[in-house]
Amino acid sequence: MDQLKRQAAARALEEVRDGMQLGLGTGSTAKHFVELLGERVAAGLKVIGVPTSEATRADAERCGVKLTTLDEIDHLDITVDGADEIDPELNLIKGGGGALLREKIVAAASDRMIVIADDSKWVPTLGKFPLPVEVIPFGLGATRRAIEKAFADCGVSGQMAVRKAKDGHVFVTDGGHWIVDAQLGRIADPASLAKALSAIPGVVEHGLFIGLASSAVLAGGEGIRVIERRKPKGD
Ligand code: A5P
Repeated sequence: MDQLKRQAAARALEEVRDGMQLGLGTGSTAKHFVELLGERVAAGLKVIGVPTSEATRADAERCGVKLTTLDEIDHLDITVDGADEIDPELNLIKGGGGALLREKIVAAASDRMIVIADDSKWVPTLGKFPLPVEVIPFGLGATRRAIEKAFADCGVSGQMAVRKAKDGHVFVTDGGHWIVDAQLGRIADPASLAKALSAIPGVVEHGLFIGLASSAVLAGGEGIRVIERRKPKGD
């Protein structure tokens, strides 16, 4: 599996050119990309990156990739990031690693987002992977009720749980928020659900990435598949 992740990362790296400004994703697949990018940088490639998490910042620094922020530059050429699920429209569930907020800000600031994954992430319909919803701890009861209502309005339902870290304490995101994971099973209309969740005051962000991915690089036993999004970004 790790080999497949690295192959997908290597294929995405072929899109990177000298002078590019790159969004650097988070997770085990994106980590391969940062490491391979570091090798190219050591060989003379000139790029600058914006990391989507403190973990990726540390990886990029270790690999010698120069970093900047979205305050210092006005756009990114390409973001390369992993995903937890990818559907045929290239809608995604992200946030299994908890970095969804920065990941979405960075993806939205990019001309192109390339999703890299092993082909187990490819699904006909999103929802088997628990949907992460990043929330403000204040007023969580009210926010949970509003989320349940949004689910019902969009024809989905399922158990919700506040994410715990490995040490048993509540998982806290890089932005200081909490994550509620929702086991929805099948999300028939992810675009409507994304809109409904975004309208809730206590929801900071959610893991549905709609219309952000430009292409997906999927590595499987039979090789690499590149799937291009047909609609323009944002649709
Ligand atoms: C991080 O918050 C996530 O969005 C990751 O991009 C996603 O969970 C994929 O991670 P892996 O590459 O480790 O499967």
